[in-house]
Amino acid sequence: MSASTEFRWDEFAGEWTFDPGVTYLNHGSFGPPVDIVRRDRERWSEALARNPMDFFLRQLEPALDAAADRLGKLVGCRGEDVVFVPNATTAMNIVAENLKLEAGDEVLLNDHEYGAVIRIWGRACGAVGAKTVLASTPRDLTTPDQLVDAIFDRVTPRTRLIVVSHVTSASGLVFPVEEICRRARERKVPVCIDGPHAIAMREVGIRDLRCDFYCGSLHKWLAAPFGAGFLYVAGSRKPGLSPNLLSWGRSLGGRPATWKDEFHWVGTADFAPYLAVPAAVDFLERVGLDRFRRQTHALARLARERIIQELDGEPISPDSEAWYGSMTTVRLPWVAARAAFPNAFHPLQKFLWEEAQIEIPVVCWRDEIHLRVSCHLYNTPAQLDLLIETVRRWRTTQ
Ligand SMILES: Cc1ncc(COP(=O)(O)O)c(C=O)c1O
Repeated sequence: MSASTEFRWDEFAGEWTFDPGVTYLNHGSFGPPVDIVRRDRERWSEALARNPMDFFLRQLEPALDAAADRLGKLVGCRGEDVVFVPNATTAMNIVAENLKLEAGDEVLLNDHEYGAVIRIWGRACGAVGAKTVLASTPRDLTTPDQLVDAIFDRVTPRTRLIVVSHVTSASGLVFPVEEICRRARERKVPVCIDGPHAIAMREVGIRDLRCDFYCGSLHKWLAAPFGAGFLYVAGSRKPGLSPNLLSWGRSLGGRPATWKDEFHWVGTADFAPYLAVPAAVDFLERVGLDRFRRQTHALARLARERIIQELDGEPISPDSEAWYGSMTTVRLPWVAARAAFPNAFHPLQKFLWEEAQIEIPVVCWRDEIHLRVSCHLYNTPAQLDLLIETVRRWRTTQ
């Protein structure tokens, strides 16, 4: 059965509300929550407003436990091993502030990593005379071992941590994190996985990975409310872990101490995004996680094929589910990387928005221009028609 007949593409599109006329092909950057999840978040906010004392002192902690248990089941670990934070950026900052680095130490990343993450580690290393090392990976990828080897070629006796994305940002590739964690254990190097894109898009089994830290955002592929992310911490790493924002460090409800106390209460806030995470998991489980992954991959695959065939794009990896999931990045070799870019929108991105209200990132990665197409349950092949037609129109103006 071909992808076009297997799926009723618009079956779930009505679950989201977009501005009229907008073609949203950027769930990977900012994934809007499903309407019922938004309503669930609002219900939690209302419960807080009706009696903040009761909510913070009596309701909040059991509700956070329940939400963490639900999340833990989704990502393959215990609820007690994950703490909610607003996003993967916060989680990564916590890891960076807690790793004891000394002058001469190295933190190993690679050239697919997210710019903000490279900055976080640059600051942490710079503060103590340590350094970040950026492994260069091959341009033509044929096997996952090329990525693993490129990373481990740069491991030295001074490597204190490997930071690696589960699914990369600009290139949208699935990294072989299982093998990276396995080889890192052999070398006794801790691993921090940057996983915001992997949650829901891939089957994630954090405990099986045996990584030290895993940073996630739930407002991407899980379609949870904005401001919902988490940090997983392996057992041996928990003692003494402290937040970057210091507050009471104890349970407001008078419960026995746990490592999460430092992170749960970092000043008065609305915890509704965290508490609505179970509603987001419920939604995708109702659709079927397998269905979600197959449908969104099929559409991403179609996007990739069409950009290659109809827009002279070049693939950046083999065509396989092992390499990419619901998001695909394709190189556009005929588009010039402008000097002004990446600090301003690329003219193609601007054209796509202004002429056709298409939201899609035109990414300059390693000095070449790429289109990154994100496919969630509300995206359809007809939206790809509009994308292809509008890029073609821009090409004629060049
Ligand atoms: C690989 C990667 N890491 C980290 C982040 C930061 O995620 P957030 O903005 O949710 O903190 C992103 C965001 O796109 C990302 O793609």
